[in-house]
Amino acid sequence: MTQDELKQAVAQAAVDYTLPRIEDDSIVGIGTGSTANFFIDLLASHKAKLAGTVASSEASANRLRDHGIPVYELNAVDEVTIYIDGADEANPRLELIKGGGAALTREKIVAAVAKEFVCIADQSKWVDHLGTFPLPVEVIPMARSHVARELVKLGGDPVWRKDVITDNGNCILDVYHLHPIGAVRELEERINNITGVVTNGLFALRPADILLLGAEEGVKTIRAAS
Ligand code: A5P
Repeated sequence: MTQDELKQAVAQAAVDYTLPRIEDDSIVGIGTGSTANFFIDLLASHKAKLAGTVASSEASANRLRDHGIPVYELNAVDEVTIYIDGADEANPRLELIKGGGAALTREKIVAAVAKEFVCIADQSKWVDHLGTFPLPVEVIPMARSHVARELVKLGGDPVWRKDVITDNGNCILDVYHLHPIGAVRELEERINNITGVVTNGLFALRPADILLLGAEEGVKTIRAAS
């Protein structure tokens, strides 16, 4: 199977997982990226069952609206029943690296609100240790150089993603050469404590609850190893 076929299979599995778990008033959180896009497109044929959604990016919000699916501001909803989103890497504790699409901050906010966070990914994202994928860090523009110097002190090699401005008007530093990240939660906290950082793409303090992983032998359902 191609990578896109694996993403499509896992997106269908996510639709099948989501539909029995939502009620008339449920709000579904929608992530960002190519796997999330497959999910949106497949979910569209069930839109009558959806009270509405919140989206982790303007791109996903526009795609949902194009399908005629209601999109709400997060501040306008009381809770998010389930959040479906992709990842750039996932480890057996279901800690993730996210932000390849620069939507990490809104993704982390929706994940924080969601009662259940379902990660959807093809098998190329499954790793023993995080950090081969460069870690995205969203930064207030005037703090870019300061944050980059601090990230070097942590052993990373930050590169400014020059062609990108986030939905929040900020910039992205991609931090190379962190693999293998050992104490993932501690690193998430340390980077977030650098003045000028909005957030970083480690999802360990709030990992996924369940991972649907698209593999050649079928979609695997993985829960966190303790
Ligand atoms: C967006 O900012 C990311 O966190 C995506 O969820 C991640 O990059 C996965 O994207 P794909 O589904 O396109 O691989």
